[in-house]
Amino acid sequence: MATVPETSPRPAPVAPLIEGPTVRLRALREDDVPALVENCRDEATRRFVPVPLDYTPDDALTYLHHTVPDGWRDGTNHVFAVADTDDDALLGTVGLHAFRATTADVGINIGPAARGRGIGTAACLLLIDYAVEGLGMRTLYWQAYVGNHASLALARRLGFTFRAELPDFASLRGDPVDVWLLSLRAGDGADPGAAGDGGAAGDGADGGPARPAAPGEAPREKL
Ligand SMILES: CC(C)(COP(=O)(O)OP(=O)(O)OC[C@H]1O[C@@H](n2cnc3c(N)ncnc32)[C@H](O)[C@@H]1OP(=O)(O)O)[C@@H](O)C(=O)NCCC(=O)NCCS
Repeated sequence: MATVPETSPRPAPVAPLIEGPTVRLRALREDDVPALVENCRDEATRRFVPVPLDYTPDDALTYLHHTVPDGWRDGTNHVFAVADTDDDALLGTVGLHAFRATTADVGINIGPAARGRGIGTAACLLLIDYAVEGLGMRTLYWQAYVGNHASLALARRLGFTFRAELPDFASLRGDPVDVWLLSLRAGDGADPGAAGDGGAAGDGADGGPARPAAPGEAPREKL
């Protein structure tokens, strides 16, 4: 005889679908696990994001079946998959964390194969719109571990302004880490479509670190 469960399982809260021109934000799924594992085993991710070292498929399954839905359910974290609009393949993850009255922190991890072609920018633009228009957030914060110039450049590209370098502010697998803190007021976002609009801040015009010169490039000078 079939056993009838005493209570029907509660549907897991999932991320809303947010469509953009190049990427969509959606809920994580089981077929994302291989890409999620690859993205989280990447060297830059292990250095700059507090993922478990030697990330396994079990870590990914725990993340998608427990950590992420728990965050949506109790309102502590809103994590989305970032997927390609053409084939829906997972490119990374993006989310809001550490909610306070009218603020939250933005977190992002884009897989190594998808970096450097505007995916992070596109995903964050959708997330910021969701945070401001959907949740009424007035200010968003961005924490990048000191030395994470890709993260700093992305934040500035989005219009975030450097605020401070905070010693030992974060913890990476038990070790203290210095943090660059940036913030964005609702409505103050840059126009990331405009060529070169990240240039001034990228050179340290907001008082923060200058972008390091690329190999073979002359050091940038402040105007
Ligand atoms: C940081 C990260 C999300 C950037 O994503 P991305 O999709 O490569 O970013 P984009 O292609 O949209 O680029 C955005 C800006 O960052 C700059 N940028 C990207 N990678 C860079 C790098 N390695 N060094 C310097 N600048 C970089 C781009 O040039 C662009 O700025 P510009 O338009 O002024 O030239 C991605 O590199 C990543 O996931 N890294 C590993 C995990 C991580 O550090 N997450 C952030 C934790 S705070």
